[in-house]
Amino acid sequence: MESNRNRLIALLEENKDQYISGQKLSEQLNISRSAIWKHMKELEKDGYEIEGKSRKGYRIISFPDKLSENTLQWGLKTKWLGKTIIHRESIDSTQFLAHQTARDGAAHGTVIIADEQTKGKGRMNREWHSAPGKGIWLSMILRPQLLPYLAAQLTLLAATVLADVVNEHIGVRPQIKWPNDILINGKKTAGILTEMQAEQDQIQYVVIGMGINVNQAEVELPENISYKATSIRAESGKEWDIKELIQQILQTFEHAYESYIENGFPEVKEKWESYGFKIGEMIDIKTMQDEWRSEFLGIAEDGALLATDREGHETKLYSAEIKW
Ligand code: BTN
Repeated sequence: MESNRNRLIALLEENKDQYISGQKLSEQLNISRSAIWKHMKELEKDGYEIEGKSRKGYRIISFPDKLSENTLQWGLKTKWLGKTIIHRESIDSTQFLAHQTARDGAAHGTVIIADEQTKGKGRMNREWHSAPGKGIWLSMILRPQLLPYLAAQLTLLAATVLADVVNEHIGVRPQIKWPNDILINGKKTAGILTEMQAEQDQIQYVVIGMGINVNQAEVELPENISYKATSIRAESGKEWDIKELIQQILQTFEHAYESYIENGFPEVKEKWESYGFKIGEMIDIKTMQDEWRSEFLGIAEDGALLATDREGHETKLYSAEIKW
């Protein structure tokens, strides 16, 4: 069910060149005029500019640029992903809040988004730079009915979703560096961190954290990291609407997730490999125990990395890094 707030925004938008009376709004939404007034005040806090005139009613003057639960949900075409969005201007990490919210019982598809993270978390306990208003810092809570060992496939699925959005919406073809770094022109523009709470044979919840550098200028990108970072702006030469990109990601993710639940991993594997970075080339692999030069053969039916071992035999790796 669409919320009253969204229906109110829709009515204001439909009537944007004229006034619409409080009476008419209250009849259409079936709520009191004082409830309409309260919603208007909330919308103003979110940056909607609304003119209210006695005897005429309300008229929308401008829609906000800034992110909020309302602006993100307005125009979002999903069935379940992002039906609850928790937005913060600043937060330590969306992952932390996602875990807390999930433990408190948040629904499958709840999304946490922040304009800025002060303790953004990357894989392997690395720091993730999350400058205010420049990128997408979001975590989604999923409750898949999957065996815990399959959660890694969701990470690969998430990487294909980001790659598809960059490819189709931005118009540049990215690559995915195993398991889930999104590269444009060989430089990292996005990363994914998947964390989960599970019992032996049941996932309680998965948190998929996505960090995407969108509107940083080249000089604003972090330098003291082991790889070369980039942003969508640096590679495409223009700034992008963060809200629209988030909506594209959520819509594409929902679709891909449903298809994965229905059809399993083969389609994800094929798509992942179509974006795969250095497949068929020699790479330097690092695991907890070892480091060696190997041929990258692709990904296995279950999502593991397929490469050659020191003796040149095909081997499956579940936890490894391809060195930069
Ligand atoms: C990586 O190391 O490549 C993964 C980076 C993941 C960053 C995202 S930003 C949103 C979410 N919150 C975090 O603290 N980390 C993830």
